[in-house]
Amino acid sequence: MDSILVKGNGPLRGTIPIAGAKNACLALMPATLLSDEPLTLTNAPRLSDIKTMTQLLQSLGAEVTSMQGGQVLALSSHDLMNLTADYDIVRKMRASNLVLGPLLARAGRAVVSLPGGCAIGARPMDLHIAGLEALGAEIELKDGYLHAVAPKGLKGAVIEQRFASVGATENIVMAATLAKGMTVLKNAAREPEIVDLVACLRAMGAQIEGEGTGTITIEGVDRLHGATHRVVSDRIELGTYMIAPAIAGGEIELLGGRRALLGSFCDKLEEAGVHIEETKAGLKVAHATGRVKAVNVKTEVFPGFPTDLQAQMMALLCTAHGTSVLEETIFENRFMHAPELMRMGAQIDVHGGHATVTGVGKLKGAPVMATDLRASVSLILAGLAAEGETLVRRVYHLDRGYERLEEKLAGVGALVERIKEE
Ligand code: UD1
Repeated sequence: MDSILVKGNGPLRGTIPIAGAKNACLALMPATLLSDEPLTLTNAPRLSDIKTMTQLLQSLGAEVTSMQGGQVLALSSHDLMNLTADYDIVRKMRASNLVLGPLLARAGRAVVSLPGGCAIGARPMDLHIAGLEALGAEIELKDGYLHAVAPKGLKGAVIEQRFASVGATENIVMAATLAKGMTVLKNAAREPEIVDLVACLRAMGAQIEGEGTGTITIEGVDRLHGATHRVVSDRIELGTYMIAPAIAGGEIELLGGRRALLGSFCDKLEEAGVHIEETKAGLKVAHATGRVKAVNVKTEVFPGFPTDLQAQMMALLCTAHGTSVLEETIFENRFMHAPELMRMGAQIDVHGGHATVTGVGKLKGAPVMATDLRASVSLILAGLAAEGETLVRRVYHLDRGYERLEEKLAGVGALVERIKEE
């Protein structure tokens, strides 16, 4: 298993290109299942999660060809040979459940394994199930698999989600594109990845309105056709690299970044004293070497502070002047990075869904263990601002979500090196 060695090296300067969004791409790829014509995705990120989704779609009979080093994905689902998403793939990546809605809509049947345990919380699928049942599907749990059928086809309905789940919104919207009549999804997720998925579905001929608001209306059509779509920039990669100059000092321009993708995250960084400027090419982020101010952070659905940037923000606040309180409202167990940061000298007190962080001047390098995707990158960011060396173990988590991380950070002057282990 590879490790990453980080040496604190002072201010960072230069540019970092932001890749296409992992989470958008993972929803866009299953959209191929809705049509027998080809779907081409450009600006795809080169990540292991994308390979996992490729394998899953191929196991269903889709053709997925990766071109231009993985930045272009040509997908075609002319014939679906298999309607079962196997446990062996789904357990690796929860987003595999995004094939459920499209398969059901196109083939009238789907069998999808439940994802099972996940490091950051229980993450049930009740909202996906309730939404698809409202569209007329019959869903039964057998042997750890959801068996879904829509014997009379799907029918539009009015659905109100108890929580604005990103994945459930994606599954329901995709399924509703081919349902008979109109679907109104209330309390829909408003994340930029939803807006991107709808733009692609619309290019495929779907009739959808209201994306980016709390109510999405879908008028079902008989069939969808092929399309080419460019994947939106990855706002979580963007936010992560915005923290790098905030924690280590310096100035970085993030190419392809836009403030609108990040909701209240930018406001919080500014409140902490970090300078953010929109440029023609992206976002420029600058901070003089020195400690940021403590700020309180509460994770919320978009446009609130993203849960996927909570660990990275915690790393920054570990070095702030004063005491910050971070509240996690989306996932129940998402502070596993706290004990690892404490190994680097951070002062953190976790109590339920809150973490109180008392800023210390300097963190100290230490061997630490990555527990999930965003937790791992928070340890790398902490290492950028620490005295001495930080060795982050189990970085396979990172490869799920950050393309060429060492290269991108080295490009702005960080001392970051991958240590390959057999
Ligand atoms: C997506 C993102 C993930 C991000 C999360 C929240 C992808 C591939 N992943 O995950 O990176 O952290 O949004 O922004 O896009 N829930 C239920 N029942 C359900 C579904 C969800 O109770 O049927 C709960 C979950 O347990 C969790 C909360 O809702 O507590 C948020 O989950 P959801 O918005 O569905 O996240 P994902 O789509 O899984």
